[in-house]
Amino acid sequence: MLAEPFYWHPGMWKMLIVVMCVALLGCLQAQELQEHVSIILLGATGDLAKKYLWQGLFQLYLDEVGRGHSFSFHGAALTAPKQGQELMAKALESLSCPKDMAPSHCAEEKDQFLQLSRYRQLKTAEDYQALNKDIEAQLQHAGLREAGRIFYFSVPPFAYADIARNINSSCRPGPGAWLRVVLEKPFGHDHFSAQQLATELGSFFQEEEMYRVDHYLGKQAVAQILPFRDQNRKALDSLWNRHHVERVEIIMKETVDAEGRTSFYEEYGVIRDVLQNHLTEVLTLVAMELPLNVSSAEAVLRHKLQVFQALRGLQRGSAVVGQYQSYSEQVRRELQKPDSFHSLTPTFAAVLVHIDNLRWEGVPFILMSGKALDERVGYARILFKNQACCVQSEKHWAAAQSQCLPRQLIFHIGHGDLGSPAVLVSRNLFRPSLPSSWKEMEGPPGLRLFGSPLSDYYAYSPVQERDAHSVLLSHIFHGRKDSFITTENLLASWGFWTPLLESLAHKAPRLYPGGAENGRLLDFEFSSGRLFFSQQQPEQLVPGPGPAPMPSDFQVLRAKYRESPLVSAWSEELISKLANDIEATAVRAVRRFGQFHLALSGGSSPVALFQQLATAHYGFPWAHTHLWLVDERCVPYYNIHPMPVHLQQRLCAEEDQGAQIYAREISALVANSSFDLVLLGMGADGHTASLFPQSPTGLDGEQLVVLTTSPSQPHRRMSLSLPLINRAKKVAVLVMGRMKREITALVSRVGYEPKKWPISGVLPHSGQLVWYMDYDAFLA
Ligand code: BG6
Repeated sequence: MLAEPFYWHPGMWKMLIVVMCVALLGCLQAQELQEHVSIILLGATGDLAKKYLWQGLFQLYLDEVGRGHSFSFHGAALTAPKQGQELMAKALESLSCPKDMAPSHCAEEKDQFLQLSRYRQLKTAEDYQALNKDIEAQLQHAGLREAGRIFYFSVPPFAYADIARNINSSCRPGPGAWLRVVLEKPFGHDHFSAQQLATELGSFFQEEEMYRVDHYLGKQAVAQILPFRDQNRKALDSLWNRHHVERVEIIMKETVDAEGRTSFYEEYGVIRDVLQNHLTEVLTLVAMELPLNVSSAEAVLRHKLQVFQALRGLQRGSAVVGQYQSYSEQVRRELQKPDSFHSLTPTFAAVLVHIDNLRWEGVPFILMSGKALDERVGYARILFKNQACCVQSEKHWAAAQSQCLPRQLIFHIGHGDLGSPAVLVSRNLFRPSLPSSWKEMEGPPGLRLFGSPLSDYYAYSPVQERDAHSVLLSHIFHGRKDSFITTENLLASWGFWTPLLESLAHKAPRLYPGGAENGRLLDFEFSSGRLFFSQQQPEQLVPGPGPAPMPSDFQVLRAKYRESPLVSAWSEELISKLANDIEATAVRAVRRFGQFHLALSGGSSPVALFQQLATAHYGFPWAHTHLWLVDERCVPYYNIHPMPVHLQQRLCAEEDQGAQIYAREISALVANSSFDLVLLGMGADGHTASLFPQSPTGLDGEQLVVLTTSPSQPHRRMSLSLPLINRAKKVAVLVMGRMKREITALVSRVGYEPKKWPISGVLPHSGQLVWYMDYDAFLA
């Protein structure tokens, strides 16, 4: 019997193609089996390695070894082999397996991991050459194809250049295999040093080879920001903008202080340590335009950069800074500084950031972090505007329906009362969609978060909690560059922060006792682009007796100058304090008398004060305020209650009786000719108002307003007299700048001698005299 001819019909062709593809895939997988990765951990016995990196590498091994990769782990340090080996063995002792792994399986895996991990000293160029040879020999011996090499720099930045040079010259893998170098912060100290470091590293490595770690990008709630925005595009598209977002808070509070790390901390402070990197990264993830494809690293990084381009420049008034009380003492002890040393390094900072683009124009982004605070917690909170009014009583408001309840979305990074990473969405916003690696969570009963019970939120937490470094190690392994800081990103961030850092370099931070005792001392507010402490600090906390002061040991230093209260601060804070005091006096006067009579001095010192009063004091009762002048240069005027220095086409002619006219006007309008507040300055020669040492007029007698002669141009002046000034209910003297140092020191010692120093004659009958001096003038 003839065999039937064998025909290929189309279905069979299709089947064959499928079979071949499967076989090819199998081959490729089999080939992948051969792919080997060498991981070299530099600084293998250091703190970071002990706490996180070895555990992260073990997790990577568990995740990937079953997927066809083989590994070798080289722990490296400068320490000699024997001692280094012992130290590394200790660091590896505490490796743990995922909770759901059987103990016997765990022991087996650990054992295999330890077999693959070797210590080696990496000190000299020869050590690096030997490492390269060993890797190559191992590959050849086991017949493995090299996938790539990861060098993890867990070492201080001063060691980077040497290591980079050695890797570049003798440890690059062969063609077809990748090199990834992983760098830990700090990446510079300011824009200039970051640029220098980047240029140096750029001479050894390609941009795509460098993985700069910001471990916050590995925190699960942070890593979820973009995927969450992507998966909930429909609900968020209309909400994620200035029309709906009231403000964004990006917060990282810590209870620990900097003890034991002051050599690092003293140089960096909280802005460089946390705000410039961790909080800025979170900010960019919240604020960036969402790329169509959020898994495209290139698009994510490009959109991040656009956020930096839209950031409004920071000014000194954009931030408040604080320092926990025992910090300076810790620095003195750890860095052997003299007893007189006081650090200006901030351990707390809050900064108001604005993004000038169509989406975010006008929305305040608050970045805040600090050590020695009352709790440890981190989150990014997006608070939505709420213009709803609910007619029915509150008990009928159901969380899911009531538009009157707060509407917020929180990426809870960790710790706090919740104790874990989470994503919280107010039930009255929308029901979010999250990937299957996140599950709906229940918190402890009665738990309230951000003003609402937990039950008011859709709340999700990761099915399996993972440490940030372990997440990032996996991203490095998979070449996911979007979770790392590129050179452009780094320099853009430093470009944004450096001007603020420079402007704060000499600002004395507000001291705070630490922990719960901080009370409301660090609370802050913001308006008109400025951020300021809610409570003024009229007194300075100073340590009480004893070598290590406890918070309760603090006592109040009440400063005096010429027997009257002295308010002293850096100029910006001083101006704010004076402006607030003037406003408070004005409000009181208007409440009691219906009017406020304010006599103001000219000159350069009060310019900043006037600007502040005019632009940032919305509550000021201007409609009931009469402005008078303390003195006037004899030039034409255009003002309110101007001094009549310009009469009969002449300036300050005795015969025109301008001084008497002004005195009559004052007597007619100001009860008892007693101003509510007179603001004075003090000249470097001890003059005040236009009362000069060389000109005896106006120092005593009956005249309320006088004509005087100034030693400097313009010579002719009109001035309130000392007797009139001293009738005021309150007098404030503002003294600013280094030029005033000498006279400040001198006048502090002299008695009542107005002929020599007219300022010494300022002694209001009310006893209400306050000196406002900035540190430049006062700390002679
Ligand atoms: C580090 C800072 O980058 O982050 C530390 O240098 C800070 O000062 C730490 O304590 C906080 O990280 P985490 O993961 O504990 O929130």
